[in-house]
Amino acid sequence: MSQEKKNILSCIQPTGDIHLGNYLGAVQNWVNLQENYNCTYGVVDYHAMNMLYKADQLRQNSWKMVFQLMACGIKAENLFIQSLVPEHSELCWILSNVCSFGELTRMTQFKDKSEQKKESDKDAFISSGLFFYPVLQAADILIYHADLVPVGKDQVQHLELSRNIAQRFNHQYGKEYFTHPEPLLTVNAKIMSLADPNKKMSKSLGEKHYVNIFGDENRIRKQVKSAVTDTGESEGMSAGVTNLFTLLKACNKQEAHDHLMEQFESGTLKYSELKGEVADGLVELCTPIRERYQEILADKKQIKGQIKASSAEIRKTAQKTLREVKDIVGILNPR
Ligand code: TRP
Repeated sequence: MSQEKKNILSCIQPTGDIHLGNYLGAVQNWVNLQENYNCTYGVVDYHAMNMLYKADQLRQNSWKMVFQLMACGIKAENLFIQSLVPEHSELCWILSNVCSFGELTRMTQFKDKSEQKKESDKDAFISSGLFFYPVLQAADILIYHADLVPVGKDQVQHLELSRNIAQRFNHQYGKEYFTHPEPLLTVNAKIMSLADPNKKMSKSLGEKHYVNIFGDENRIRKQVKSAVTDTGESEGMSAGVTNLFTLLKACNKQEAHDHLMEQFESGTLKYSELKGEVADGLVELCTPIRERYQEILADKKQIKGQIKASSAEIRKTAQKTLREVKDIVGILNPR
């Protein structure tokens, strides 16, 4: 680890597939950050336990997420699976004592998620894990002394909590031990559904709403072709056309973007031409990712070995932190 580089840490839950919206909104940024920072990225399976799930599926999803992140360009040596670094949950317990009940009750994500569940079923089971998970998130971050945490807006409050926990720990034990992590806000494109451009692209909306970046070229072309352009706006650019221009830019087709934008402004734009350019751009973007994914799937066993090794390597940092923390708080260290 080089000294002058800052530490970056971020994590993703192993739920489902990475689609185009996730890729352009977050994962691509993670890939690029690897050039200039010490990056550590986790597939956080312990976090995925607070909603109903099937044990076998969770294990499969964790590996699938690893394969997909690697296909997108995350280096194996920067990647770990949370359950292969059990120190996170141990640190979580220690940190729970410098996090107040009141702080956790103010987390808007918990309020939103638990209300959503109750709306669909008034007797829904709200686990205390759902309530408590920001403390585990703080442990994920603080255990690697992360300086920067690339996240979306929805995680800013959790980041603030992590900072408060670090501060309170340092104050209580009279030692500037934990780094105060800062969010690195992802300013990337927000990609909307092609079938309903007023909604954010998401897997839960259904098949036709998200672009599978690992899927075949024809499907991508078909989806773009049938993208909704007219959403009933009376003036200005419709949400659907805006989304297509956003995609063009996100695929690095700046020239085509500017050229077609001029046509839009002069009222001569043909949607079929815009769609053709977007489809070409997306196919160019996704083809190498899909090919790498196929290679990885053909070599699963070796890749799993790599990730177990990188997790073991990353674990050394976590173990060092936990040992130091136990010394500070007066807990014994096992041999
Ligand atoms: N809570 C994050 C989410 O739901 C995932 C996450 C867990 C995370 N631990 C983290 C993100 C640590 C950044 C850093 O998306």
